Amino acid sequence: MHERIVILDFGSQYTQLIARRVREAGVYSEIHPCTRSSEEIRAMHPKGIILSGGPCSVFDPGAPQLDPALLAMKRSDGSPTPVLGICYGLQAMARLEGGDVAPADRREFGRARLHIDDPSGLFQGVPDGSVVWMSHGDHLTRLAPKYRILAHTDNAPIAAVASDRAPHYGVQFHPEVAHTDAGRLLVENFAMGICGCRGDWTPASFVDEKKQEIREAVGDARVILGLSGGVDSSVAAALLREAIGERLICIYVNNGVLRKGEWEEVQAIFRDHFRLRLKAVDAADLFLDRLAGVSDPETKRKIIGNAFVEVFDAAAREIAEEAGERPAFLAQGTLYPDVIESVSFKGPSATIKTHHNVGGLPEQLDFEVIEPFRELFKDEVREIGRLLGLPELVVGRHPFPGPGLAVRILGPVTREAVAILQEADAIFIEELRLSGLYDTVWQAFAVLLPVRTVGVMGDERTYENVCALRAVTSVDGMTADWARLPGDFLAHVSNRIVNEIRGVNRAVYDISSKPPATIEWE
Ligand code: XMP
Repeated sequence: MHERIVILDFGSQYTQLIARRVREAGVYSEIHPCTRSSEEIRAMHPKGIILSGGPCSVFDPGAPQLDPALLAMKRSDGSPTPVLGICYGLQAMARLEGGDVAPADRREFGRARLHIDDPSGLFQGVPDGSVVWMSHGDHLTRLAPKYRILAHTDNAPIAAVASDRAPHYGVQFHPEVAHTDAGRLLVENFAMGICGCRGDWTPASFVDEKKQEIREAVGDARVILGLSGGVDSSVAAALLREAIGERLICIYVNNGVLRKGEWEEVQAIFRDHFRLRLKAVDAADLFLDRLAGVSDPETKRKIIGNAFVEVFDAAAREIAEEAGERPAFLAQGTLYPDVIESVSFKGPSATIKTHHNVGGLPEQLDFEVIEPFRELFKDEVREIGRLLGLPELVVGRHPFPGPGLAVRILGPVTREAVAILQEADAIFIEELRLSGLYDTVWQAFAVLLPVRTVGVMGDERTYENVCALRAVTSVDGMTADWARLPGDFLAHVSNRIVNEIRGVNRAVYDISSKPPATIEWE
């Protein structure tokens, strides 16, 4: 059994990022709802416990509670279990231990510089003045007895604390997000230095364990997988192929909202090159007919999700007839950000969007679902893809949402709008590749706006649509910043789009970060 750190989820959007930071330190971690009893947690034999942040205030009626028994827990060798509280986790812990929490005068959100008062233990090697990411309404106003301050910021006199009685630590900021400079080191210090883990978990061990798990779950049955040609489903296909060989059958659906040339390209790569068993179903008309006249993003997602499952079901029936046996499983490359922003994952967190892979699926799905990457992030999946021998062309591809161009055509999706957007997007991506900028951004794409503006071409007045260009940098899709693409480059792309595409006479560049915007426009 791997050494493990248990993360208790109090509903933070970032809980899975904590798990991922722990994994980066080479330690296996599991997320459990904050409602798990201390007996259940003890039975997991954790080397340490991390309490996540959360959307509630400790003063809210019904705010999630921390079980005091967790703070008195002993490990199997009799030593006290180390605990790290993050934001809400710190506040919940501090209150139980006798400290005071109060609402701050104003919510503190964004960057702050950390001044380290005790550079040992948790802050070993963390540079003084590092940037940390704050996101809280309440804060600690008085230390609990036997606690001391480890770090402060200009706004927060108590930014990190430790107890002298037990290995209990707390931070007011979020070490798990990418914007906290030394967050990774801090979590590593907790896992290795304080909890004493050795680090026995690697991506290779993940692959071996998942293959084993899949084989055990699937037995002799067949599995179908929705291949989109994107990173997630491609890596899932590679993993399943290694696990169960020919019993994996991939289904590739043309949903009418793919990128330019993608339908042919993906078939060529996977059928001809990878020799996967691939069934290609052209259902473009079905999807586009059902999307006709629909503007609401969530309705689009539901329609696409439902049509997708229907098409799958029909394809699976055909496969069953051919093989004499129906596939019992449906494999998907769902990633953690798809899950966290869709449903409350193992705990109480807010729904932002229902992503197609998850929220769009009807409950009465006639397959058992296999989602090997459900707790991973894109770059972790890319690493696994490389480990499985997939070429850079596939693993390096920008993410593409399940509902495709439908969520990039604002307003109703028409065949004409799809054709226009495909062209604009193709120009943008082609230019990014030509100029060597493609790999410098997390995701880049065009969006077609339902807004017409006046332009002039030759001596003619035009009255056509606006195309927005969006390029973001990100490490995991959870937070993102707009990419500072060179002005000359953008001018060239805008020029090509406006000149080459009938129906577009203006291009704009999106300069919003996530949060408060999201990456996609819908
Ligand atoms: P947002 O727009 O939520 O996007 O900031 C985060 C990442 O998720 C992708 N995305 C989706 N992927 N189904 C998917 O499979 C969806 O409905 C969906 N919506 C957004 C988005 O492209 C980005 O990479």
